[in-house]
Amino acid sequence: MRSRSDQLKATILGILTLAVFQSVKADNENPTFYADALPVFQKNCVACHQDNGPDVGGIFAPMPLNDYEQAKIWAPLIKNALITNYMPPWGAHERHRGEFKGERYIDKKEKELLIAWVDGGALEGNLSDAGSKGALASNSAGTTLPESGWWIGDPDLVVQFEDEVYVPDEVMDWQPTVQMPVPEGAHENPKWISMAELDPGGPWVHHIVSSHMGVGVPGRGPFTYPEGWGVLLPQDPFITVNMHYHKNPGENTAVTDLTRAAFKFYEEGDVIDHVVETNLLPHRGWTIPAGDSNFEVNNTYDIEEDIYLLSMGPHMHYRGKAMRYELEYPDGEREVLLWVPDYDFNWQFLYEYEEPKLIPAGSTMHMSWWFDNSEGNRFNPDPTQDVVYGPETTDEMANARIYYAPTTPRGLVVGEPIPEDVLNRAATEDMARRDRADLFDPSADDFSWLTEDSP
Ligand code: HEC
Repeated sequence: MRSRSDQLKATILGILTLAVFQSVKADNENPTFYADALPVFQKNCVACHQDNGPDVGGIFAPMPLNDYEQAKIWAPLIKNALITNYMPPWGAHERHRGEFKGERYIDKKEKELLIAWVDGGALEGNLSDAGSKGALASNSAGTTLPESGWWIGDPDLVVQFEDEVYVPDEVMDWQPTVQMPVPEGAHENPKWISMAELDPGGPWVHHIVSSHMGVGVPGRGPFTYPEGWGVLLPQDPFITVNMHYHKNPGENTAVTDLTRAAFKFYEEGDVIDHVVETNLLPHRGWTIPAGDSNFEVNNTYDIEEDIYLLSMGPHMHYRGKAMRYELEYPDGEREVLLWVPDYDFNWQFLYEYEEPKLIPAGSTMHMSWWFDNSEGNRFNPDPTQDVVYGPETTDEMANARIYYAPTTPRGLVVGEPIPEDVLNRAATEDMARRDRADLFDPSADDFSWLTEDSP
């Protein structure tokens, strides 16, 4: 989150950086797009910033950065995005470098080079320089959306809403529960999910919660479980999702949403050792005073059996400022598992370990959240309001979702009968999701729910 003081710091930093570069440039040629900037864009930015780039959980990068004309137009904003650390988007502090999958850190030298390129007038240079460096404006390897239209490749099962969900003009926040029908004959037996991908119908999809696919929110890619880790998709004619729509209300703001989901399953003979479990770890019962620029809340969670921690997903709303997960081992030693110093509501990252992390029984997780409810927070919907835990985006939340599994291997062979406890849990989770909220009836044109409190 970029507060005013951060902006000021950034500006000062910018002036300093500029000064440094002006002296360096005295004996260096001006950097050019093809010779210097393009390789850095390719490495750090083009995965998202390309023509027909990926849908990063409902948002798209606004311009291709392997295109000189575009990069030139955006040059001042590129410099700003780099100085403020807004791009490349990632929330975990540098101290975590190397720990999480899909991390995005730009090297200091590369960042300085891009800024020098902007300051030097965003020069084009010669196309042949790009050729000689093998960085001609093509997509970086592996970042092109596969022909299937899904990042997970060829899905084994695709589901989508039966009808478009209409989100009327008046809506700001709305959380309907919607069922995606499973095509007949497409899913005859319970299957173990190895990968799942949500394809939200647009940026107004604030987030999607489902038992089988994890949580779909802006900034999150597909779910890929480590080998031997899985989530059971029971045999069921429906897959239930809780949608959360958020947009500016008003005339002509209505949108329609046709969200889709795709799955890849384990094959017969594969072994599932770890059945993925999740816990939202919500913390309630606090009030953030109006105008408070640094309100802290804390919570703890006791780990009762040995687990492998797979990932962490901090969640707050617009007043969220920073978040920390810290582990206290049974011997009292402490370790920061995740430090997000500049929480940004628009980018809800899931921090997924490269290697699942062993957490011994008897440990305590200490979670801390910081909020900025002052007018200095430019995302703050209303600095004059005290704020408590609640489902609307204008309320707040202090959640610390974790995905994990007990360390003891289950040794479940795919294709053999699935133990009752595993089947039951998978089924009850989806049932609970249905029971918790009235199912959305797309044929009804009665919008009385608009005045009701969300579940
Ligand atoms: C994970 C995908 C991703 C990566 C990697 C990424 N961007 Fe972005 N970028 C986005 C998305 C999505 C937006 C639009 C959302 C927004 O503007 O907040 C964006 C917006 C921008 C903007 C416009 C910001 C503004 O103030 O309007 C700039 C400039 C930018 N990116 C530059 C970069 C640069 C430079 C890099 C590499 C160093 C980079 N981005 C890497 C996804 C990405």
